Amino acid sequence: MEDRGIWFKGSIVPVADAKINVLSPTSQFGLNVFEGIRCYWNEEQQQLYAFRLQEHFDRLLNSCKLIGFSCPYALGQLREYFLETIRFNSYRQDVAVRMTLFIDGEGSWNSVAPVEMFIAPIAKSRTDVTNLKGLSACVSSWDRIGDNCLPPRIKAGANYINGRYGHLEARRNGYDVPIFLASNGKVSEGAGACLFIVRNGQLITPSLTSSVLESITRNTILDLALEMNLRVCEREVDRTELYIADEVFLCGSAAEVTPITSIDRVPVGQGLPGELTVKMLDLYLDVVSNKSPQHGGWLTKVY
Ligand SMILES: Cc1ncc(COP(=O)(O)O)c(C=O)c1O
Repeated sequence: MEDRGIWFKGSIVPVADAKINVLSPTSQFGLNVFEGIRCYWNEEQQQLYAFRLQEHFDRLLNSCKLIGFSCPYALGQLREYFLETIRFNSYRQDVAVRMTLFIDGEGSWNSVAPVEMFIAPIAKSRTDVTNLKGLSACVSSWDRIGDNCLPPRIKAGANYINGRYGHLEARRNGYDVPIFLASNGKVSEGAGACLFIVRNGQLITPSLTSSVLESITRNTILDLALEMNLRVCEREVDRTELYIADEVFLCGSAAEVTPITSIDRVPVGQGLPGELTVKMLDLYLDVVSNKSPQHGGWLTKVY
């Protein structure tokens, strides 16, 4: 285990001391909401940049509201504790930060308190663009969870069990990752990432009502694509469009921009990472590490 300090229930403690009750609702039922936030180190500027903090905090608070418990912290406190935790660990490298609000105590799946929080940074490097291979995907036999059963708009721990089923099935059958369809048969998203296809130079992504998480990276890519004068479209996507797309990629705070090079063994385009996908990944990595000054508004300096 990496030796680091975790913000846990009001103070920073060694990771080994951040322990919870096995009977807590978060432990028993996955009753928690969380964010996965990336920070990128810029060696030239000797600075660490947190990407789109405000949007992550907004989504965290929406998740609380939808799952039915209140966040005990104001926005300013979330920001302060987040920065305090990373500074405490003196990171001078890329990190991924897990920020989780959870139901503690000895309750049940319907408990609404006590709400506690942890903030756990983990060292995580960005995608190596010089060694980009792309992933093989399959269309999962499992449906994506939906708004009227287990809303994917909420970033809740329990939702990830759906991703787990798809992922384990994909790996069992020799694929890297699953792509989920929503219960209406339309394309939804990956197990922990949203999805774009490219057709005739246009970037297309399933709409926000396609059983997807309201992804911050998806939103970033839509903005960047418009700046690149690309045509973009948010709409329903058919399964068959996956097989005839010129390019397909996943996106997310963890996935960044990940090319998909085959789906159900059908090559995507030439079966290599697509040109536009690679261009988008390059731009994305510049933006998140403050090498693209006009996007500085998305970044928060950690030091
Ligand atoms: C199911 C799911 N969809 C999409 C995403 C991408 O969201 P974001 O870009 O906000 O990280 C994630 C990752 O957080 C996810 O878990």
